[in-house]
Amino acid sequence: MPTQAELLAIADKVLVKNYRQQPIVLERGRGCEVWDLAGARYLDMTAGIAVCGLGHAHPTFTARVAEQLARLVHVSNLYFNDQQILAAKAIVERSFASRVFFCNSGGEANEGAMKLARRYQAVVAEAPHRVTFISTHGSFHGRTFATVGITGQPKYREGFGPGIGPVEFITYGDLAAAERALAGPDGKPTACAIIVEPIQAEGGIVVAPPGYLAGLRALCDATGTLLIFDEVQTGIGRTGAWFGYQHDDVAPDVMTLAKGLGGGVPIGAVACSEKAAAGLAALPGGAVPHASTFGGNALACAAANAVFDILEREGLIERVAQAGQYLGGQLEQLVDVFPGHVLEARGRGLLRGIAVAGAPTDVVAACRQKGLLLSVAGANVVRFAPPYVVERAHLDEAVGILKGVLASGAGAKK
Ligand SMILES: Cc1ncc(COP(=O)(O)O)c(C=O)c1O
Repeated sequence: MPTQAELLAIADKVLVKNYRQQPIVLERGRGCEVWDLAGARYLDMTAGIAVCGLGHAHPTFTARVAEQLARLVHVSNLYFNDQQILAAKAIVERSFASRVFFCNSGGEANEGAMKLARRYQAVVAEAPHRVTFISTHGSFHGRTFATVGITGQPKYREGFGPGIGPVEFITYGDLAAAERALAGPDGKPTACAIIVEPIQAEGGIVVAPPGYLAGLRALCDATGTLLIFDEVQTGIGRTGAWFGYQHDDVAPDVMTLAKGLGGGVPIGAVACSEKAAAGLAALPGGAVPHASTFGGNALACAAANAVFDILEREGLIERVAQAGQYLGGQLEQLVDVFPGHVLEARGRGLLRGIAVAGAPTDVVAACRQKGLLLSVAGANVVRFAPPYVVERAHLDEAVGILKGVLASGAGAKK
């Protein structure tokens, strides 16, 4: 096996240089800890960007996935497989949804939701002119051509030429703006759907103001617009409820999932009401309107089924709520300890962040050098998204390291 330094040198030659990875090669993990090839241990407060809720190498999860690997991995959607049906049932039983379509990532789930919305208006509502997507400034919905087109951060579209349209961006949290956009020009709605995250995660951990999601629901009902909640980052327990929308008295027509759903095994899902599901249903004699070779693969769905079982059996969602409250309190204190440097603490459950006056990348790099993994969200936020199995001692250790790094001046305005 090459050394860490040798592998980094190879990476420099063979990988496309789109990412800006930290210069460590991670090799194994357990719970909230990971180790690099040089033997250094890190406390992981990223969980693979809000993915590994069960932590690393959870013994039951590992056994369940290994058992499925030895039984059946993939048969395609020419046939059913038991794990896919059970995973869909698990989502339906815990959410507003009646039906589920599986795919492989968050971007792909949002692509599916976009296709559903267009075709729902064209085929079910018989309003084929309703093609506009409404999205919010600061949102993040993925990196595919279509989803980068509805992502409210223009930097992600730079250099890629003409994208999908029409898309109208409105201010997140502003119901009056949503009302105007949904009403359409001359009071004639042109939107097929509006897509929002219950918490804008990549945009900097911005929680929807109280009443916003319910207000959107009412506006969508009044105008016949589909309401899509992008729960790729907030779903599957991350906020202390199964799904982020469950903190409010509201249900969408469509919800997209990925990240936490497979515990680290790639999987995405479009969960929808019976009414919305008609948007992707095959018509007699017609083509299959949407599909994915790997979508609903037996291995990925077995991973999702294990995630559902373990989260429930170990009471991990309740733990997210408690640990999240504790972490939130600790982060709030940093605002007082570092005035003008730590500007704000934000978030819900175990999706949290602090906004800093300077560069969050400097904070993340310095923390990594001290054995703590964090990530950046938005322009100025240092994000915590730890595994749900995180213990108070881990959080204390993490906040202690972060405090030391902030005290050294990292993240302050230069
Ligand atoms: C809210 C949201 N939607 C979509 C995506 C895209 O997911 P993926 O990277 O799996 O395509 C992300 C990824 O960060 C996300 O946070």
